[in-house]
Amino acid sequence: MGSIIDGKAISTALYEEMRQEVEQFDKQYGRRPGLTVIIVGEDPASQVYVRNKEINARKVGLVSEVIRMPEETTQDELLEVIARLNADTAVDGILVQLPVPRHIDKDTVIAAVAPDKDVDGFFGMKSGFTMKQGYVAPCTPRACIHLIKTTGEAIEGKHALVVGRGELVGKPVATLLLNENATVTIAHSRTRNLGEIARTADIIIAAVGRPNIITGDMVKPGAILIDVGINRGVDGKLCGDIDFASAAEKAGWITPVPGGVGPMTIAMLIRNTLDCYLGHVS
Ligand code: GUN
Repeated sequence: MGSIIDGKAISTALYEEMRQEVEQFDKQYGRRPGLTVIIVGEDPASQVYVRNKEINARKVGLVSEVIRMPEETTQDELLEVIARLNADTAVDGILVQLPVPRHIDKDTVIAAVAPDKDVDGFFGMKSGFTMKQGYVAPCTPRACIHLIKTTGEAIEGKHALVVGRGELVGKPVATLLLNENATVTIAHSRTRNLGEIARTADIIIAAVGRPNIITGDMVKPGAILIDVGINRGVDGKLCGDIDFASAAEKAGWITPVPGGVGPMTIAMLIRNTLDCYLGHVS
């Protein structure tokens, strides 16, 4: 039975570390990092996410602001708010919660955020610059890499398999793994011999949104398994893309769902805000 990578405990430790860092920053640079989240409309899931971001941002001592705008906000009104925040030196990170209402073009809005304040890490990926200095990496991919590193195992030289080629997780996490000098394979819905490929992988990151697509028979003994999927199983319970029971038998390390990648993503958003702040004060 593999060891569990406890995302909840790891994120709790990270929050405490970042809280101390923020105290230190305040002494050293005379101000705290600022994160502003903009939410347009009433999407209930978004309301919950934004509330969680605010609670955690406050917990580490950031100057946290949420700008709530009505559903009927025009694109120009939203762009005006973003332009004001881009120019505000007290704001280090700007996040426009997605989805935005249909009459607003998401890509135009995302592109309007100053690249050095883009805590979602969308800018770097879109431009193919994920790794260039000055732009942060997207939160969930960054969370995956952090979780792998907590095992103490090396990434360099390992065969890492990313299952899923989405813009938000699959592609950027593959780039981050390459940066860590892994040998990276990206599998997707058209991949023919997934089991065969998976059995040669030292690290598997599953991010397709299909319950139990990775099963124990596909896992190399001792592999590190990171499950980004959040699905509702036939029994109504939350489950990931990896069949936990069978895969945990073979794995060296495995993240649970829930309690693995999930709790880490907001922690990484705050980390990104701290990194943007450091770019602004230094
Ligand atoms: N809505 C759901 N997830 C996200 C995210 O990671 N970033 C933004 N901006 N909106 C989201």
